[in-house]
Amino acid sequence: MKRRTEIAQVLKNPTLNESVLVKGWVRAFRANRFIALNDGSTINNVQIVVDFEQFPEEVIKNIGFHACIAVTGKLVESQGAGQSVEIVAENIEVLGSTNLEDYPLQPKAQTMEFLREKAHLRMRTNTFSAVFRIRHAIAFAVNKYFNDNGYYYMHTPIITGSDAEGAGEMFHVTSFESNKAPVDDNGEVDYKKDFFGKATNLTVSGQLQAEIAALAFGKVYTFGPTFRAENSNTSRHLAEFWMIEPEIAFADIHDDMDLAEDFSKYLINYVLDNYPDDLKVLDDRIANLEKNMKKEDRRPMGLIETLRFVVDNDFERITYTEAINVLRNSKPYKKGKFEYPIEWGKDLQAEHERWLVEKKFKKPVIVVDYPKDIKAFYMRLNEDEKTVAAMDVLFPGIGEVIGGSQREERLDLLEKRMGEMNIHADELWWYTELRKFGGCPHAGFGMGFERMVLFITGMSNIRDVIPFPRTPGSAEF
Ligand code: 4AD
Ligand code: MG
Repeated sequence: MKRRTEIAQVLKNPTLNESVLVKGWVRAFRANRFIALNDGSTINNVQIVVDFEQFPEEVIKNIGFHACIAVTGKLVESQGAGQSVEIVAENIEVLGSTNLEDYPLQPKAQTMEFLREKAHLRMRTNTFSAVFRIRHAIAFAVNKYFNDNGYYYMHTPIITGSDAEGAGEMFHVTSFESNKAPVDDNGEVDYKKDFFGKATNLTVSGQLQAEIAALAFGKVYTFGPTFRAENSNTSRHLAEFWMIEPEIAFADIHDDMDLAEDFSKYLINYVLDNYPDDLKVLDDRIANLEKNMKKEDRRPMGLIETLRFVVDNDFERITYTEAINVLRNSKPYKKGKFEYPIEWGKDLQAEHERWLVEKKFKKPVIVVDYPKDIKAFYMRLNEDEKTVAAMDVLFPGIGEVIGGSQREERLDLLEKRMGEMNIHADELWWYTELRKFGGCPHAGFGMGFERMVLFITGMSNIRDVIPFPRTPGSAEF
């Protein structure tokens, strides 16, 4: 039996005038004569030329949009524009037909919202084909970057007893059946009798465990699923997302910012260098969407141009205090255009972050030294005793993509902070012990993987860059 050739191979090293067997899904069938076939090995389709008089009506009618077919035919130089080679079909086998009358997708532009409801089929469209191939590329580049730079990949637990961010946005993990949980003398659920002998939850961050590893291996990273039960129904939030968290010993907040910038640029460059065809599909998609928009509603630059611009320029670095001053002197602030107040001590809102990045500096911005009261307990207190060595990296069109800090390595200050912020010190005895024995200055950050994928693909909603999004009210597929 003839062996299948992947379409990537057919297009890259065509063996002209030889017979090939390809298998894939129909992206388009024009004029009953030209099939654009894709098998996922590349974003590009191979064109199949069909002489329909040669094939029974039975076969042709089953070759609907997204039908799965196997084609044997001779590979020849293409007569038409747009492709270099094509396959003249000699035999077509329909492996899985689609009947357009009841196939949920139609061969026309569909909204992202509609396609989200068809997550079992959307990967067959051009846009999602490019998005998820690039998602793969970025995940690969994450591991490559850290491996090439001497970091060790540590798997941190998904089930934990701690709340690393202290924000209480956790999904609880229990083996008790609802309504049948045993209670103690105070009428509270008795987690001592639960599976792990204590209350547990899905992790909100692998940082605290990554710190353990950094204080043995020097440079480590985690890259795993992360869960937050925050009820944020926005285009930037998921209840289940992936986070990349490097943690480095003998490092301060400046090393941390340098790493964040270098790492971000590496990921973008990796996709620019290795996935130009996929990026072009996404670039063209945006240009097409914006074709009829007013100039002020369009993005200032095309996708590929934006990515190039970000890697070619230094990120802007400013302190939180400077950011507040710049914002209070801004036109939209003076004209009362911001919805949320801008006051020292209050967190920056998405509208403020986006103004800084998109209007003021027009490139990624790293904001550093935030007021201690709006940040997590583990961040290192600065000399002013009002701010902590924390940084956020803000990207155009998105806002925060990275959040990180130098960690408080001084036991007395850490314990004081935990007390003030009502952190359960007994849960984190091991975390404080790291400061008692062989501690050292160290720092790290967390990059929201999907937010980075969102930036690089130019998509608008985070639900469109993760295969199966989990959001408030939605856990289909
Ligand atoms: O800023 P966050 O909360 O930082 C931490 O969790 C630290 N422990 C990281 C560290 O220092 N090791 O989260 C880090 C990043 C954010 O900048 C954001 O990009 C992403 O994770 N993120 C989310 N992404 C999607 N959906 C959500 N609900 C997210 N919450 C945070
Ligand atoms: Mg943050």
